[in-house]
Amino acid sequence: MDMVPASAEPLLHPEQCQLRPSDHRRWWVLVAAALLLMLLVTVGPLHPMLFGVPQSEPVALILLTAAQEKGAVCLDGTPPGYHLQRGSGDGSSSWHIHLQGGGWCGTVNDCSNRRMSDLGSSKFMKPIQFTGAGILSSDHLQNPDFYNWNKAYVRYCDGASFSGDAEGQAEDGTILHFRGLRIYQAVIDELMEKGLANATQAILTGCSAGGLATFVHCDDFSARFSHKVSVKCLVDAGFILDVKDISGQRSFRSLYGGVVHLQNVRQVLPKDCLTNKEPTECFFPAELIKSIHTPMFIVNSGYDPAQI
Ligand SMILES: *[C@@H]1O[C@H](CO)[C@@H](O)[C@H](O)[C@H]1NC(C)=O
Repeated sequence: MDMVPASAEPLLHPEQCQLRPSDHRRWWVLVAAALLLMLLVTVGPLHPMLFGVPQSEPVALILLTAAQEKGAVCLDGTPPGYHLQRGSGDGSSSWHIHLQGGGWCGTVNDCSNRRMSDLGSSKFMKPIQFTGAGILSSDHLQNPDFYNWNKAYVRYCDGASFSGDAEGQAEDGTILHFRGLRIYQAVIDELMEKGLANATQAILTGCSAGGLATFVHCDDFSARFSHKVSVKCLVDAGFILDVKDISGQRSFRSLYGGVVHLQNVRQVLPKDCLTNKEPTECFFPAELIKSIHTPMFIVNSGYDPAQI
């Protein structure tokens, strides 16, 4: 069933959120999967004929090597990247851009450690598959509205929600690049050249740290298109609250304080907010949404463990 080649990274990362079906439906998927598994085990070698569901192919990473000269680089200085799957049929002029999530780094130490992973360096990034049950899936049955759209999955490797623009230094003296904002701009520029400029409808989505990036960039994304184009944004698990958690701490406030200052996030924050509030406060969705004009859909679980 899950014939994921060793070189490919399935899209459903345990630590990352995905645009999932409701719990209720997930149960049915699990039950169905268990039954199917039993059948496969029983029928054995016959299964490719009986259950020959088309596999979605791993989608290669496209590196933005040309953007390196604009300073659009991952934390470790390697080029950023994205995965592009072309649309087909009535989806061929519709575009779905997804900003990957994966937490934040607000200290030199954390950002330095991130360089050793695919969240800070393209050296570690692998192809992905557009599988699963979310709105990134290429499966018509799982994702009837968007399955055949052009899909770009933008890799997150800056640690500041595609919003920082600065440079730092690790303890061993190596340079840390905080260029999330340049990465976002360079990727969208390249996608515009690859057909996004002719989109008839487009949606920008993001999950967690990518969701926060979607709040930050929704309006400038939408501003790249003429008024005739339908542009919307969707944020999954990105409505981070500036409240005390069960430990009695404002953990996100202190994390974001580090991110905003270390990575120089200020320039993407709403001017109105900056006139009477601390930049760190202005990096929270409750402030960001005050100035967003583009239609936006917000999905946030009341039981998101990251926020309890
Ligand atoms: C947009 O469409 C026009 C007209 O069909 C075409 O000439 C142009 O190459 C397209 N641009 C992109 C970026 O695909």
